[in-house]
Amino acid sequence: MYRSRLNSDLSGITLEYVSSIRDDSQIALYDIIGSQAHTLMLYQNEIISKVDVTKILSALEDLKKSEFGDIESSDTEDIHELIESLVIQKAGMASGGKMHTARSRNDQVVLDLRMKIRDDILVLCNCILDTSEALVSVAKDNQKTIMPLYTHLQQAQAGLLSHYFLAHADVLLRDFERLYETFQRVNHSPLGAGPVGGTSIPIDRQSTASMLGFDSIVENSIDATSTRDFVLEYVSVVSILMTNLSKIAEDFVIWSTSEFSFIELADEFTSPSSVMPQKKNPDILELTRGKTAEVIGNLTMMLTTVKGLASGYGRDLQQIKSSIWSTSKISISALIIMKSILLTLKINKKQMKKVTESSNLVALDVAEKLVQKGIPFRITHKIAGLLTQYAHQSKKPVSKLSMIDIKNSVKDTEVDPKVLSAIISDITVVSSLKERKSFGSSGYDEQKRMIKDRVQKINDLRTNVTSLENHIQSSLASLQSQIDSITKKKK
Ligand code: ARG
Repeated sequence: MYRSRLNSDLSGITLEYVSSIRDDSQIALYDIIGSQAHTLMLYQNEIISKVDVTKILSALEDLKKSEFGDIESSDTEDIHELIESLVIQKAGMASGGKMHTARSRNDQVVLDLRMKIRDDILVLCNCILDTSEALVSVAKDNQKTIMPLYTHLQQAQAGLLSHYFLAHADVLLRDFERLYETFQRVNHSPLGAGPVGGTSIPIDRQSTASMLGFDSIVENSIDATSTRDFVLEYVSVVSILMTNLSKIAEDFVIWSTSEFSFIELADEFTSPSSVMPQKKNPDILELTRGKTAEVIGNLTMMLTTVKGLASGYGRDLQQIKSSIWSTSKISISALIIMKSILLTLKINKKQMKKVTESSNLVALDVAEKLVQKGIPFRITHKIAGLLTQYAHQSKKPVSKLSMIDIKNSVKDTEVDPKVLSAIISDITVVSSLKERKSFGSSGYDEQKRMIKDRVQKINDLRTNVTSLENHIQSSLASLQSQIDSITKKKK
């Protein structure tokens, strides 16, 4: 449709090489709605006539009901060309040929991307809240489930399983915050920027922005058409989110081994082996790890595309679109699946407790008890270390050391073995967790407080997402009613 300056058409293979039509089905509806807002604005500013606006809007309404046919087999360069040519077919050149007045595919495509990404962000925000809610609910059920906490994947301190789930809820809520902030930078309209430098036609950019539910406009037309920082920001933030989900996946893969046996995944989240009948493999979680790599790959692809581009639109930018779709699809599915895995997880509380009690995880508690008796921590650390070493060598837990064992193990220190023995016989994993009072710790009391707090936080954040959704929906609904009032008059 656009080739008047050129003498020949693209050959089949070149057209396929150039065309983004395969990727464009994801933005077709945004392109139609954006075109409707643009057309309405042209009419309201007396740039096109009543007859023109009516015909163009009706043609676009018909396209919404999807009369595209097989988009992918069309011989157009992209969805923008396809929609414009269909509008011209339906409305006639005299009116349809006016739709593209004062805009360009360069502001059009970036408009579509902003509308698509803002919707994806809102879906993701809701999914994050659902998964966080699942984490908090599993935490609620496991406030008394004792487990070993790890550093270097070595047992470190006794803890509570609720504390683990709450940690990941907090991580996801930060992912939420990052996405929510990204939304504020995405939700600006580039429409009306034209190819790069604006237009002489008296358009009203503010009016299309508000019809489409944008908070404001991307003012500078060079910036509006050529910058993709909002896409990079979105995919970066989602990459971080995916690495967080991937870490949970890795923990669960380890915990579901027969060596750990801390959890059992529900059957629907495992795969069998084609050859070993006994196997129940955590393939779904492994794929969360694997797909995280794909999202990071998408980010790398985009950064590499953008870094060497001259300012102003370059066709290279077309290539980043499918990576946006893949990023959104993977992350939304990963969150939905993680939520269901959490809610169907079988937790082997006995095994977690057994492992915790069989290791000398109270060593730090012994040292801290001695600190309360006025001994410097560096010395109490040494005393607890000697005790643990002695216990390890005599193949007994610290709690089972006799008076003689205790005397022998700390003979080179000044601590009174009787005091030490009294401390050891008083300390259990449960007592240790009762006394763990520091803010945000694994202590019993802290679990209750944090759960209550996070339940409230998630509810508040839901209200914030709903208000963003409502704003967009009500803007689009009022655009639709303006369209209806014009197109219905025609019938
Ligand atoms: N299909 C193109 C894309 O996805 C649309 C913009 C084309 N603009 C141009 N000046 N060739 O980026």
